[in-house]
Amino acid sequence: MKYALAFDLFGTLIKTNAIRHTLEDYVDEQAGLFYNLWRNKQLEYSFRKTLMNFPADFSLCTKEALDYCCTAFDIYLSGRDKKNLLKQFSSLPSHQDVREALETAKTEGHKLYIVSNGNRDVITDLLHHNQLYSFFHDIISAQDVDAFKPAPAIYEHFIQKSGRPKEQCWLISSNSFDILGAAQSGLNTMWIQRSSENIFDPWDIQPSSVIGTLAELTEELNSYVEDQD
Ligand code: LAC
Repeated sequence: MKYALAFDLFGTLIKTNAIRHTLEDYVDEQAGLFYNLWRNKQLEYSFRKTLMNFPADFSLCTKEALDYCCTAFDIYLSGRDKKNLLKQFSSLPSHQDVREALETAKTEGHKLYIVSNGNRDVITDLLHHNQLYSFFHDIISAQDVDAFKPAPAIYEHFIQKSGRPKEQCWLISSNSFDILGAAQSGLNTMWIQRSSENIFDPWDIQPSSVIGTLAELTEELNSYVEDQD
């Protein structure tokens, strides 16, 4: 079976926590804690804004979360420092296992999509920066439906754009909240657990498949078909 594969971006293809290195210049040994709060606040703001019917602007969530963290850690960053940090979200590196996995999946005949909460310009910049853009058939941003994942609207938009029944659609993500949202919308889901520190939310929903690295992706898809026969 050839599938429509929707890849999450931040954390899944892109090494979001690489920004810690730059943070060290500003917050020294607190960089790890600062980063964790920044990322959690960024996601929390996106979830709350969708509940409140705000426009889906992930870059704004990132900026507001950074402002929050500066106050929480009592750290002064100039406007220029903040701009510099925020700009880095468009030029973060990808995980090591990404390129080959995308290449193989595309060669095997699957159709690849990005389904991300990120703003369209940031998604495009990141894919170009990592020379991954050409692997994708289409990019779906939360901006297209004005709702962030895990709201159903974005997963449904992907299914509709793929032109396939949802049984032929997969969401591939290392973010547990994303897997739960996609499963709730009826997609097949593949959770990437690159580290044991990445814990799956203990809800009564399981991913269709779990892999430790994207290198296992196509084999897992093939064996999934066999399992279903
Ligand atoms: C993304 C973030 C939320 O959608 O992981 O790319």
